[in-house]
Amino acid sequence: MKTDVLLGLQWGDEGKGKIVDVLTPDYSIIARFQGGPNAGHTLEFEGNKHVLHTIPSGIFRKSAINVIGNGVVIDPIVFVKELERLEPYGIDLKNQLLISKKAHLILPTHRMIDAASELSKGLNKIGSTLKGIGPTYMDKTGRNGLRVGDLLSERFNDKYRDLKDKHLSMLQYYPPLEMDLAAMEAEWFRAVDTIKKLTCIDSEHYLNKALADGKSILAEGAQGTMLDIDFGTYPFVTSSNTVSSGTCTGLGVPPSSIGKVIGIFKAYCTRVGSGPFPTELTDEVGEAIRQEGREFGSTTGRARRCGWLDLVQLKYALMINGVTELYMMKADVLSIFDELFICEAYTIQGELVRDFPYDIHESDIVPVLTSLKGWKQDLTQLTQFEQAPDALKHYVSYIESSVGVPIRLVSVGPDRAQTLLK
Ligand code: GDP
Ligand code: IMO
Ligand code: MG
Repeated sequence: MKTDVLLGLQWGDEGKGKIVDVLTPDYSIIARFQGGPNAGHTLEFEGNKHVLHTIPSGIFRKSAINVIGNGVVIDPIVFVKELERLEPYGIDLKNQLLISKKAHLILPTHRMIDAASELSKGLNKIGSTLKGIGPTYMDKTGRNGLRVGDLLSERFNDKYRDLKDKHLSMLQYYPPLEMDLAAMEAEWFRAVDTIKKLTCIDSEHYLNKALADGKSILAEGAQGTMLDIDFGTYPFVTSSNTVSSGTCTGLGVPPSSIGKVIGIFKAYCTRVGSGPFPTELTDEVGEAIRQEGREFGSTTGRARRCGWLDLVQLKYALMINGVTELYMMKADVLSIFDELFICEAYTIQGELVRDFPYDIHESDIVPVLTSLKGWKQDLTQLTQFEQAPDALKHYVSYIESSVGVPIRLVSVGPDRAQTLLK
């Protein structure tokens, strides 16, 4: 069978968690392939809301196995807190949640370096979630990292101490931080003991055997294409490959095993943290989207920046990911407007630009906007796309014909059930 991929096409928070949960009954395995606790994936069903950071979003469906792939970075402290929140649901974690031995560990000192590095950047800060993501991936590519498999080594404590000492010497170059390392370490080692009791595996062997046995895999992306380390709005990005090709390196499945690439996007755009955002609305319209869409970060609670849908950016994301079908999220949020806008191109220093440019300085970019009619109708009770107002059908077909990829699903609310298949 194939590995289908589901990933975000914008700056993250597109609604990946909700959709993975909706799709899980169709798959044997749900596997996260990159990112770590910088992610916050929200699921809502039966009146409850859950936010997952490290654990794949298939965990509430007993039919699926959930795998944390080698491309993920794990903070044991955050991870164990997530496990504790799952306790009331009686999930068989030993059998339903498998962790790659090759996944890297976020140490308390990685979080300290993240904080120190951001502070030192001042106004140029990335707006990191401060979860230690960048420093952990730096140690991975620098060949210094600690992996889950190392937890089983007799030399683990020595390896930990060597890496921590290296970090402490790096921290001397930064102003001192008010962080209690001893307390963080005590909690970290307690959490590590919990991980050791779970099932840590050679996930690349497991996943390839599953494919050979006819099982289907859904790869769950984190962050979004515009936060990709290579193709995002560098340097205001995360430190992993969030794009579809990251599935192969993050899980160890070959490109020939990839089936559908499902790209998910909001009917508008949001971004949390610093960096360019061509269609950003800093006025009352942006504020109205933020309030209606409850656009506050699932991981950090920060207000998300909001703006109109950007087709220049979306087409770029479709190209990089090879998206085969689109899912459009949060259509219900736009119900408040009489008139909607979509960005077709940019004008940069008087020149019309249709391809997403190398370097974008917000002050230079003027989005070229097309006006579309709003639907001004509550969508949250709809059960079929056919019942949707004509203006929404037009909004959807307008995007489809502009980008040349079909929209197969429209989401009209945060709950599992508020999902219209097309
Ligand atoms: P993720 O990181 O891509 O999983 O997305 P987040 O969970 O960080 O953010 C998406 C937010 O939108 C969450 O609060 C979801 O519950 C919510 N959400 C998802 N789909 C919809 C939708 O169609 N309409 C509305 N109003 N909210 C949605
Ligand atoms: P999900 O999976 C939205 C952003 C941060 C910051 C930049 C770098 O929930 O969509 P990092 O902590 O990775 O060093 O931060 O990336 N960012 C996200 N924004 N959703 C996310 O994940 C994000 N993960 C990181 O705000 O701008
Ligand atoms: Mg999120």
